[in-house]
Amino acid sequence: MISQKTVVHVVGARPNYMKIAPIMDALRAKPAVRQLLVNTGQHYDQAMAGGFLTELHLPTPDRDLGVGSGSHAVQTARVMIAFEDICLDVRPDLVVVVGDVNSTMAASVVAAKLVIPVAHVEAGLRSFDRTMPEEVNRIVTDRLADLLLTPSSDANENLRAEGVPPERVHLVGNVMIDTLCRHLPLATLDRVRDRMPIVDAQYAVLTLHRPSNVDDGETFAGILRAVHTVAKTMPVVFPVHPRTRGRLREFGLERELDGTILTEPLGYIDFLALTSHAAVILTDSGGLQEESTALGIPCLTLRHNTERPVTVSHGTNRVVGTRTADIVNGFERALHATEPKQIPELWDGRAAERIADVIDRFLAG
Ligand code: UD1
Repeated sequence: MISQKTVVHVVGARPNYMKIAPIMDALRAKPAVRQLLVNTGQHYDQAMAGGFLTELHLPTPDRDLGVGSGSHAVQTARVMIAFEDICLDVRPDLVVVVGDVNSTMAASVVAAKLVIPVAHVEAGLRSFDRTMPEEVNRIVTDRLADLLLTPSSDANENLRAEGVPPERVHLVGNVMIDTLCRHLPLATLDRVRDRMPIVDAQYAVLTLHRPSNVDDGETFAGILRAVHTVAKTMPVVFPVHPRTRGRLREFGLERELDGTILTEPLGYIDFLALTSHAAVILTDSGGLQEESTALGIPCLTLRHNTERPVTVSHGTNRVVGTRTADIVNGFERALHATEPKQIPELWDGRAAERIADVIDRFLAG
C-alpha cells in the first residue's frame, strides 16, 4: 500500500474553475496523491459558479464554505475562518491555490500560519498597480507560497526581482490554456447562434467587471460610448457580469447600449464558442487576454496596464486604456492588424501535467 499525501485544492470564483480542473485530472495519475476540493462560494450564482463545476467535470466539492459576497475584508475573513477549520480537520500536506482572487489569498494566509505548504498556480504575474485588489492578492500569495508555478517567463523575472528563492519557482506554462485546448472542439458557433443574431467573424465580444471600470460612472459611460461606436460597425455581444448589471442600472446607462446584444453570463463552452469566432474582443478580464492570444483573436484590453505582458509582446493583445477615443482607435487598428502573432512558450495544453509532476516530486521529497 502506498501511503498517500493529501492535497487540498481551493476554488472560489469563476476564473478559478478552469484552472483547477486540468490539475485535478493530471493528479489523478499520481497514486501517492489523495485530492480534496474546497469551494469557498465567493461566487454562488449558477451562471458564475455551479454551472462551471458541472461543465468542466469537476468533482462535487468535498466542502462548500458558502462565503458569498461582501467587502474585501468581510469576504477574505469569512474564507479564512471557515478554511482554518478544514485545515485543522483534514491536515493537508499541500494546499493548491490558483489565480488572484480573494479566496486565493485568504486560503494561502491560513495554510501558511498552520505551516502547511502552499502551491500557487499562476504565480509571479504583476500589474505593478496596487489599486487593483488582485495585485495585493498576488503579492501576498506569492510571498507565502512554497511552490510558485508560473505561466510565462516574465513571471519568473518578477519573482527573481522580489528575491524569491529560485528553487521554489517552476515555469509550467498556462493551465487555463489546457482547458481551452480540451474544449475548443466542442465550441461550435451553433451553440450560441440560435440565441443571438451573429455571423461568424463579424461581431465583437465585450466583457467588463473591474471595479475601476464599472464602479465609476464617468469611466463606465466613456467605455460604453466607445462600444456604441463599435456597434455601428458590427454587433457587440455583451455577457453581463452581476456587478456590471447592478452598475448599469444604478448609473442609468442601459440606453447607451443600442446595437449591443446583452446576455446573462454564459457557460464556459458557450463563451468559448463566442470568443473563438469573434472578429475582436474588448475586455478588462485577465483570463480573456490570455485566451484571445491562444485563439489568435485580436483583443483590446480596457485598462491602463496588464499583469500579462506576454499577451502584448507575443500575442494579440493591445492595452488601450478606458478613454472613448482610444478604444475606438484601438478597434480600427485591430480590424486591420496584420502583424504575425506567436503563442507563448508552454501554452501548449500540457501545463497541468507539468504541475502534477512538480507537486508529486515536492510531496515525495
Ligand atoms: C471577482 C475577483 C476578480 C475576478 C472576478 C471574475 C476578487 C478580488 N475579485 O470579482 O479577480 O476577475 O471575480 O468574475 O476576488 N455577484 C453575484 N453573484 C455571484 C457573484 C457576485 O450576484 O455569483 C455580485 C455581487 O453583488 C457582488 C458582485 O457581483 O457584490 C461582485 O462580486 P465579487 O465576488 O465581489 O467580485 P467580482 O467583481 O466578481
